[in-house]
Amino acid sequence: MTVESLAADELQGGGAAGMMPFVYGHVDPALFPIKQLRQALREVLAVQGAPALNYGASLGCGELRDYLREKLSRDEGLGVERDELMLTSGASAGLDTAVRLFTVPGDTVLVEAPSYHEALANIRDHPVKLAAVPLDKDGLVVDSLAERLESLTLAGERPALLYTIPSFQNPSGVTLSAERRPRVLELARRYRLLVIEDDVYRDLCFHDPLPPSLYALDTEGVVIRLGSFSKILAPGLRLGWVLGPAEHIDRMANCGLTLSGGGANPLVAYMVAAYCRRGWLEPHIDGLRKSYRERRDVFLAALKAHMPPGVTWTEPGGGFFVWLTLPASPAASVVLAQAERRGVTFLTGEPFYAEGGGERHVRLAFSYLEPQVLARGVEILGDIMSRG
Ligand SMILES: Cc1ncc(COP(=O)(O)O)c(C=O)c1O
Repeated sequence: MTVESLAADELQGGGAAGMMPFVYGHVDPALFPIKQLRQALREVLAVQGAPALNYGASLGCGELRDYLREKLSRDEGLGVERDELMLTSGASAGLDTAVRLFTVPGDTVLVEAPSYHEALANIRDHPVKLAAVPLDKDGLVVDSLAERLESLTLAGERPALLYTIPSFQNPSGVTLSAERRPRVLELARRYRLLVIEDDVYRDLCFHDPLPPSLYALDTEGVVIRLGSFSKILAPGLRLGWVLGPAEHIDRMANCGLTLSGGGANPLVAYMVAAYCRRGWLEPHIDGLRKSYRERRDVFLAALKAHMPPGVTWTEPGGGFFVWLTLPASPAASVVLAQAERRGVTFLTGEPFYAEGGGERHVRLAFSYLEPQVLARGVEILGDIMSRG
């Protein structure tokens, strides 16, 4: 995104003309494969118009589900059966359905501190309590998870779900280490906790292969994993998927909304299936990785050059976000007020904490703006923070 093209922007959360928004954890629209998607849509309407425009199967378009199963087998060596994967209208819809079906009123949902603020809002729509567990540079702190589970249980609460984003987490950019992953599963088994693994950034990995997902490591059917085309293709498609034990997928696919709605976005799913069948998704993801890696590198170099002593930040190996920790002063909200006057916007940490905190944190997204805009924005932020 260039600064000029933001003038006509009507994104959720605003984006006034000429602003440099580090707010959006979005794909840069300049990277949408519009031409190829147009061709895929034409092809679908020409040869599969009737099924694509009709109500579909509750698990979603079979062709796309088969493509995803092949992709999971090729990329991660996963053998996913046909009844273990369903399409959803984005990962957000998968999360909403899972919280609705797999909790009862009064249950506790454990979340990371910090965690994706819109997911927290999504979970809060349900009659459950939230309990936050801290993160460090290796992801969810498993000892804290164990303590929190024990204290909740002793207090007579029922911890029912853990919502976690183990890869290139939103907002912190950190990844759950390979060592911690089996321990999370062990706790889930011990406390009969269902883990909702939100892995929407898995494909946007810049270097080393990621550790296997919790879903891949799970042998007891305690994990539901959410995926999405939002970050690897386009969020406007509103298309994602859920992997999980067949009995859970069956419940999700047969709940009222999915059944009466005829599966997730049939026309879009057919279009994406046609796009994938042409072999276009893999090179597209490679291109995204390259673009975002370049942006991440420029961004980290700019932070190094311009941030005053005392400011620290995470160095994500993928995804969209860098998480800053500021010294005691100035507060992130004070920096934001000054930054907005100079055309730079971002989110301060508070909305990412389910139980308070975050005043000294800043989430910056590097996915949405072109490298030179990113560098200029960081320079402005550095100048504001240096003046205190
Ligand atoms: C961790 C995480 N999960 C889910 C989503 C939303 O996914 P979808 O567009 O598929 O609903 C986002 C978007 O920012 C995200 O960061």
